[in-house]
Amino acid sequence: MDEAGTGTVLWMTDVVKSFGGNRALCGVSLGINRGEIHALIGGNGSGKSTLLKILAGVLPADSGSLKVQDRAWNLRDFTPEAARESGLRFVHQQPTVFPSLSILDNLCINGQYSIGLMGNIRWGSTRRRVLDTMERFGIDASPNQLVGQLSPAMRTMVEIARALQGQEPGSQSVLALDEPTAALPSREVEMLLGMLQRFASQDSQAILFVTHRLEEIVQVADRVTVLRDGMDVATLNREGLSKAVLAEAIVGRPLEAFFPEPVAQHPASRPVLELDCVNGGGVRDLSIAVEAGEVLGIAGHMGSGRSTVLKLIYGATTVESGRVCLDGRELALHDPEDAIQAGIGYVPEDRLGHAVLPTMSIADNLAMVSPRDYWKGGRHQRKQEFADAAAAIKTYGIKADSPSVPMNSLSGGNQQKVVMARWLRRGPRVLLLDEPTQAVDVGARADLWRLIQDAAAHGTAVVIASSDLEELAHLCERVIVLKEGTLGIELNGASGLSEDDISHALHDLEAA
Ligand SMILES: Nc1ncnc2c1ncn2[C@@H]1O[C@H](COP(=O)(O)OP(=O)(O)OP(=O)(O)O)[C@@H](O)[C@H]1O
Ligand SMILES: [Mg+2]
Repeated sequence: MDEAGTGTVLWMTDVVKSFGGNRALCGVSLGINRGEIHALIGGNGSGKSTLLKILAGVLPADSGSLKVQDRAWNLRDFTPEAARESGLRFVHQQPTVFPSLSILDNLCINGQYSIGLMGNIRWGSTRRRVLDTMERFGIDASPNQLVGQLSPAMRTMVEIARALQGQEPGSQSVLALDEPTAALPSREVEMLLGMLQRFASQDSQAILFVTHRLEEIVQVADRVTVLRDGMDVATLNREGLSKAVLAEAIVGRPLEAFFPEPVAQHPASRPVLELDCVNGGGVRDLSIAVEAGEVLGIAGHMGSGRSTVLKLIYGATTVESGRVCLDGRELALHDPEDAIQAGIGYVPEDRLGHAVLPTMSIADNLAMVSPRDYWKGGRHQRKQEFADAAAAIKTYGIKADSPSVPMNSLSGGNQQKVVMARWLRRGPRVLLLDEPTQAVDVGARADLWRLIQDAAAHGTAVVIASSDLEELAHLCERVIVLKEGTLGIELNGASGLSEDDISHALHDLEAA
């Protein structure tokens, strides 16, 4: 496409960025048209977030230029202020809302409080404006609620509302979103995609959108730019887009070649994990049993209690009544330490917020759940720790130079892989996974599925809460569907479950 392409509102040319000796971007060019939804896709660590941070002015490029609103900029010295003045708005991959502040404060912190003549904050009109914004973005909560207490989906909506509030109708802007849907269940995804489509078509705004969920791209994208290893390898038009085409463009090989076989039936054995009439955290009278080698799925709409079930087992939510038993013995877990001792591994939904020490090394993050393993005779076995971490980097396909690099130098998806590897490499008795492949690329997703299946084949009892029905259908022999904290339907997939089976069950339960 030529630079003067009609309707091009933003044009980045030859963007180069290295971190130390590492080339994250090797001369990427990208044009975005008015009124289009432009998807930016690529494997974990391919450079998507780096490109967005450069466009936001929060990271200087080594070289490259930007044309926006008839002005040309050198991307070496583009600033966040310049980005804002140029009409660029961002929702970054790492949350930037403040968990300890209310929704109202988060929405006003950049100077959106109504100020009275005496310099005082006019709370009444501030609150009214915030309520308007919240309604526009479907945030169903009190403005005083702390953002830290919101679900990941709601938090994402607060991020988006904050980026877009105060946007004058008809003003030219480009909204760039880095994996806004990663933490959203399907209903919220639909809502957000609908919002983006309206924004693009009615308001003629341009949208740049990073996601690993290929079906979203097929659904809404007008054009797609594919990054591979820091290079723009293709720009695809809407015609002929399919998940298979996109997956191939991302990994550079055909789709069939890397999807593992669906889960096989495990040999019958005794239950490892049993819940007997468990109540707590909004979950009611739940009884389930999971055998060694079995993969049990938990489906349900947002707020149905999927994540809470995992937290009850792990001891992160208090069991008010009922029993959780491991190998026939009742567990009394008071903190995660007890759960780890008992052989239970847990990967929370909000991994980047709850499971990562960002400034510490990959090796430290991997060893975090078993630091004592590397202390012998009063000495820290650093060499062993590093050798094990190097092996994990290889096995789990983590894109990193060495085990000693800090977690926050990894791309989002690669941080997620470290958190998964932390547990998978230990072969726990019970493995609790909340949205295990959210935010990882299509190739890594297949790899992680295979590793989860391996863990089960080695006797781990696995419980997966997921909003990704393809994932549940692929991995689970049995899926329970929750509604309002209780078990609504149990699907037994001895002869295989399909996405449709689960989706129908969700639908039937909703209608019941
Ligand atoms: N602050 C940093 N220090 C060192 N290396 C970095 C830093 N930020 C990013 N990188 C490296 O740059 C490369 C691109 O990372 P980036 O975050 O842009 O990937 P991404 O395409 O957004 O991946 P994901 O899908 O996992 O979010 C990676 O190899 C990453 O390790
Ligand atoms: Mg990223």
